[in-house]
Amino acid sequence: MRTPLIAANWKMHKTVDEAEAFLKVFRRLTKDVTGVDIVIAPPFTALTAVVAGVQGSSIAVAGQDIFWEAEGAFTGAISPTLLLQTGATHVIIGHSERRQVFGDSDEAVNLKMRSALDFGLAPILCIGETLEERNNDETLIVLTRQICQGLDGLAGRNIAPLVVAYEPVWAIGTGHHATAEQAGQAHSHIRTTLREKFGKGAAGSCRIVYGGSVKAGNVRELVAQPEIDGALVGGASLDPESFFEIVEGGRVTTV
Ligand code: 13P
Repeated sequence: MRTPLIAANWKMHKTVDEAEAFLKVFRRLTKDVTGVDIVIAPPFTALTAVVAGVQGSSIAVAGQDIFWEAEGAFTGAISPTLLLQTGATHVIIGHSERRQVFGDSDEAVNLKMRSALDFGLAPILCIGETLEERNNDETLIVLTRQICQGLDGLAGRNIAPLVVAYEPVWAIGTGHHATAEQAGQAHSHIRTTLREKFGKGAAGSCRIVYGGSVKAGNVRELVAQPEIDGALVGGASLDPESFFEIVEGGRVTTV
């Protein structure tokens, strides 16, 4: 039995004041919500404010990226140890915006994954094909490559805290979400690949969430797919009411 997970990726949005205002409303709305794990990934500058703001709730906090070294001369980078010090417990790794805008390769993603797990952060590994790759019928090949390279060198016993986020690049911020059938097919493939690589038990305990134009209006049909264990939400997570409705809709998956 996998508990559904609904995560907010605020990307490069929200000042400390805006984050605090969000939490004031969101905490009130979610005070009686059960049966779902909620994670919020604010920008680094709002991490400590969000950690303080979720005290006394079960809401977890994530960084949006890390560098793999523990410390050193790496201007602009945040290490797993620095992230942990803020009180964050999760980290998003390999988001398509990191891959496309900042040039994160599969090798870099792998180093970050290993480092996160070594230091005790729960990683949310983002994978997904571009529109061109989908049109060329390469979706499953791309997903296999991103999983195998991203998780290279890891063993089944290491990956219990792993969350995989299937985020088709063409669905991110476009308003065009994958259909439940498209997402369901990709998620089944991801589960099978994890099973082949790590065995049934380890693969069965990982959560695979969908991201890309998730809204209150589409989350239910997405999580109704057997292998969709929740959602990673960008734009629609910036407003507390809208994110709360997604949490409510994503709470009941079929697993
Ligand atoms: P949108 O929900 O804005 O499409 O963003 C998805 C995403 O990138 C979450 O990580």
